[in-house]
Amino acid sequence: MTPLEAALAGVWLMIPALVPNSAAVIFGGGTPMDFGRSWRGKRVLGDGKTWRGFFGGALTGVVLGLILMGVAMLLDAREVWGYGDWPDALLVIVALPFGSMTGDAAGSFLKRRLGKDRGAKAPVLDQYNFVIGALLLGLLLAPNWVLDHYYNDNGIYGLVLLLIVVPLLHRGVNIIGYKMGKKDVPW
Ligand code: CTP
Ligand code: MG
Repeated sequence: MTPLEAALAGVWLMIPALVPNSAAVIFGGGTPMDFGRSWRGKRVLGDGKTWRGFFGGALTGVVLGLILMGVAMLLDAREVWGYGDWPDALLVIVALPFGSMTGDAAGSFLKRRLGKDRGAKAPVLDQYNFVIGALLLGLLLAPNWVLDHYYNDNGIYGLVLLLIVVPLLHRGVNIIGYKMGKKDVPW
C-alpha cells in the first residue's frame, strides 16, 4: 500500500465501526443494557445504552461491512480496499461493528464511574470509545487484518488519518442529529 492508499483505506474500512454510533440513536429505546441496575450509587451504564441501540447499531455496521466487501470484490481489490479473503473477512466484518458498540458501552461505564450523568460531555472518551472498541475486538478476532491495515506496511497512515477524521465526523454528525431533533445535545 502507498501511504495515501493506506490512509484512505484506513478510514473507508472503518465505516462499519463509525456508522453504528449514529444508527444506535435511531434504533435506540426500550430496555437498558444494565436493566436499570446501579453500582456504587451510580447506574452501571445508564438509560443511554439500550439493547435495541446496541444490536440495531451493530447489525447496521455488519450490513455496511458486507456492502464494502462487495465493492472491494467488484474492484478486485479485497486486500487493500476490503477485509481480505473469505471466510476470515467475516470475522472482521463482525468484529468492527460489535467492537464499536461494546467500546461505546464501556465508555458509558467509565463515564458513570467518573460521576458523569447520561449525556454529559466526556472529551476524548466520547470521540474515541467506539474506535478503540472496534480496533481491540478486531485485534482479538482478526489480528493480522488489523495490524496490516493500521500498523504494518504504511498502515500507520490509516490509523493517523482515522484518529484525525473521527472527532470531526463525530462532531459534525452530532450537530446534524441535534438539529434534526434526534439528539438532546449537540455532542
Ligand atoms: N443509544 C442506545 N443504545 C446504545 C447506544 C446509544 O439506545 N447502545 C442511543 C440512546 O438514545 C443515546 C443515544 O443513542 O442517548 C446517543 O448515544 P450516546 O451519545 O452514546 O449516549 P448518551 O445518551 O450520551 O449517554 P452516555 O453519557 O452514556 O454516553
Ligand atoms: Mg453522548
